[in-house]
Amino acid sequence: MGIAIRRVGRYDSRNIATRKSQLGETQPMKTRITEMFGIEHPIIQGGMHFVGLAELAAAVSNAGGLGIITGLTQRTPELLAKEIARCKEMTKKPIGVNLTFLPVMAAPDYPGYIKAIIDGGVKIVETAGNNPQKWLPVLKENGIKVIHKCTSVRHSLKAEQIGCDAVSVDGFECGGHPGEDDVPNMILLPRAADELKIPFVASGGMADGRSLVAALAMGAEGMNMGTRFIATKEAPVHDNVKHAIVAASELDTRLVMRPLRNTERVLTNAAVERLLKKEKELGANIKFEDIIAEVAGVYPRIMQDGEMEAGAWSCGMVVGLINDIPTCKELIDRTMAQANEIIRQRLARFAA
Ligand SMILES: Cc1cc2nc3c(=O)[nH]c(=O)nc-3n(C[C@H](O)[C@H](O)[C@H](O)COP(=O)(O)O)c2cc1C
Repeated sequence: MGIAIRRVGRYDSRNIATRKSQLGETQPMKTRITEMFGIEHPIIQGGMHFVGLAELAAAVSNAGGLGIITGLTQRTPELLAKEIARCKEMTKKPIGVNLTFLPVMAAPDYPGYIKAIIDGGVKIVETAGNNPQKWLPVLKENGIKVIHKCTSVRHSLKAEQIGCDAVSVDGFECGGHPGEDDVPNMILLPRAADELKIPFVASGGMADGRSLVAALAMGAEGMNMGTRFIATKEAPVHDNVKHAIVAASELDTRLVMRPLRNTERVLTNAAVERLLKKEKELGANIKFEDIIAEVAGVYPRIMQDGEMEAGAWSCGMVVGLINDIPTCKELIDRTMAQANEIIRQRLARFAA
């Protein structure tokens, strides 16, 4: 894996941190997303398998963002109910739960998971994967706001049409599943803004105040971060994962499973290179069974045990912008301070 060469520029997080005191306390920012979810800052922590546990969700929410527990990381609805209760002991602020609808034959117990969400008093659900239409009536009846994750304008419009409250628009740079269209956020976000009536957040490649201001400029009402939140003090993952993120550059992610139309952006390692070799050799004949060793059951080994060569795990190109392991509060405060500084000083100068 490549070792990043880091330049400390004007907008490096360390400079912003030292300037923060001059900027005063972090001001809340009002957008349609903060209003909808009852949060102070338009920053969401996206659901992440074996990362989005109670500790991280509570830390993000306590810092004024929206923390999200990853539903399917909990093996049963009963375990999800316990995780929600555990999170609610750590924060009184709004939290969300991610429900990923997988394209598999043996579907997880979705009605059970939804019951755990409703009974747990959670009022925000981040859906992802397959169309969530079937589950919207029960969520709506229980006063739950739904933000659906989409990798294209057409899926975003569909989400709006079926009654989702908001969308999270995930560009090609994102960690996880960017879809098959390969449209980066520089194009996808303004396209979404041109078409959508419901509010959306920018997702994929978001790291700091620059990302937030750019997202707002392109029509988003906030941003969703995945990879950036893994490298925080509270993320309940092995230190090896956090250090791998800090060490990696923007050149170190790969796209796997494209021939299976299940493209995933992952951090490169020996298993990923092996997987890509198989994809090259087997071509269109490749089947999921051929790559099981590199993708199945990988997350607990990576995230909990820190076995960094165990297999393919989601990671965004934004690793190139991640240089440190702050607390969630430090990360969110400095992001808001930087965003405010850019808006009030740098951009105001151009407009003057
Ligand atoms: C390790 C990891 C695991 C993820 N797991 C899920 C998941 O289970 N469900 C989901 O909807 N998105 C998942 N995502 C996607 C994130 O929620 C988010 O959309 C994405 O990370 C945004 O891109 P970024 O990493 O550039 O910030 C995952 C991302 C990462 C990095």
